[in-house]
Amino acid sequence: MFNETVLKEIDEIRVKYPDRKSALLPSLYIAQREFGWLSQEALLCVAKTLNLPETEVRGAASFYSMYRHKPAGRNLIQLCTNVSCMVLGAERLADFISRKYGVQPGGTSQDGRFSLVIMECIGACGTAPAMLVNTDFHDSLTEKRIEEILEKYK
Ligand code: FES
Repeated sequence: MFNETVLKEIDEIRVKYPDRKSALLPSLYIAQREFGWLSQEALLCVAKTLNLPETEVRGAASFYSMYRHKPAGRNLIQLCTNVSCMVLGAERLADFISRKYGVQPGGTSQDGRFSLVIMECIGACGTAPAMLVNTDFHDSLTEKRIEEILEKYK
């Protein structure tokens, strides 16, 4: 179950809305932050906390791509390979990340350091290619720049 701090955080979100369903997506995000991914246990915690049917919680969680449904590495790389990024070499960069760090798209490196997800546009087309590492935004990517950036994430 969530600890008292997390329950308070979710409650503060819940009271902002007339319908508790409106707090579902941010609550799932909090659960993912707390558990690292949305396991069956995490989904049940959200359902109980918001007093919503478990099927409704699972349905929302499975609909959105920003929720993880299996354990992830310590750092999540979300690389955009949509049109602007693709034109500027994002697919080559995805291959580079896979080779250099041993992590395939949708997977996690054996050492648990990185998970890699290929994303649709993240709104940085003007400075493509772009990626998120956890919640940090990085753009104008090259292989050298990716190496420098990922060095900081252990
Ligand atoms: S296409 Fe990659 S940020 Fe828009």
